[in-house]
Amino acid sequence: MFSVTCIAPVNIAIVKYWGKRHEELILPINDSISMTLGTNELCAKTTIAASEGFQHNRMWLNDDELPVEEDSRLMRCLKGVQRLALANGSQKVSLSWKVHIASRNNFPTAAGLASSAAGYACLVYSLARLYGVPINEELTTIARQGSGSACRSLYGGFVQWHSGALDDGSDSVAKPVVSAQHWPNMHVLILVVNDERKKTSSTKGMQRSMTTSQLIQHRVDKIVPERTANLKKAIEARDFPSFAEITMKDSNQFHAIALDTYPPCVYMNDVSHAIVDFVHSYNETIGEVQAAYTFDAGPNACIYVLKENVAKLLAAVQKVFPNDATESVEYLRGISVSATVEKHPAFNGTLNVQAKNLLKYIIHTKVGDGPCQLSDD
Ligand code: DP6
Repeated sequence: MFSVTCIAPVNIAIVKYWGKRHEELILPINDSISMTLGTNELCAKTTIAASEGFQHNRMWLNDDELPVEEDSRLMRCLKGVQRLALANGSQKVSLSWKVHIASRNNFPTAAGLASSAAGYACLVYSLARLYGVPINEELTTIARQGSGSACRSLYGGFVQWHSGALDDGSDSVAKPVVSAQHWPNMHVLILVVNDERKKTSSTKGMQRSMTTSQLIQHRVDKIVPERTANLKKAIEARDFPSFAEITMKDSNQFHAIALDTYPPCVYMNDVSHAIVDFVHSYNETIGEVQAAYTFDAGPNACIYVLKENVAKLLAAVQKVFPNDATESVEYLRGISVSATVEKHPAFNGTLNVQAKNLLKYIIHTKVGDGPCQLSDD
């Protein structure tokens, strides 16, 4: 029997992926750019064992067994990495052996915290390690077929997913823009408003946008190309104000398209909108752009902020969204992660701040290095 254990990070899109040109191959209609987060605070952890003695492929996600053979996205990933192993002539583990996969997130699944991105990236990365397949662009085309955004989690730092033009999707790959070391003081506060399963999944929401939104094609043709180019320039120059403006505008535009969808996809709630107002008035009050929000398909806010400005921002968040209790994050028990959160008087506790019905907790993390292998037996 052979086994590997790996972890893979969450990534947060800055220019959002929204809409597919091919459902099964998961080919997007536009390029997207994301930042990979540190694995200490948020990650998926996957162990895969392969043995001659296993009768069936089996998988457990957060302790619940999934029907592997009926899960087309999962099977595409498994078959895809096995195909690459065959092409590479890798003989490390026999391809005829069945696999047992156990995966866990250290944060709630489907909370709009990109759990599927970390999960599929971890699955594909672990399979690649098991079979001795190189971690490269071609591998990102397999992760993409698990969940589109997963292809960006195979790299650390800032990552661009190129939509590509070919029908077979071979040019729809993720590529690093810059490594985490380029902008190491780029931090993120995730203000968790709600960690329950979202109403409309990203997959369903974007299908509905593709057929009903009248704005979506305008975004693809007229907005995204210039925006991705400008964002890359801002990242390369470590220009936070330009980075922040693009980030906030793209989040707003993505949610405008979600609302232009019919029936509309409403992902942000009143607290999310209060956070938007708060960030703009915070930047205005201090006379400098020091914080930038972005929201994926859920109500939780990701706030980009440079390390030197974190403590001041956290103190302000606590003032506006008061809290009177601090508790440890229950779901962190399931995985061996160490919380490396800066301790500041305003940030009472290790990982979280419980705010009266407004914020459930705050996760403090930063730009990270991408997936890694923990063990190999
Ligand atoms: C709003 O990658 O979860 O987070 O490809 O259907 O699995 P599927 O969708 P998914 O969509 C992510 C959408 C987003 C924006 C982004 O991450 O770019």
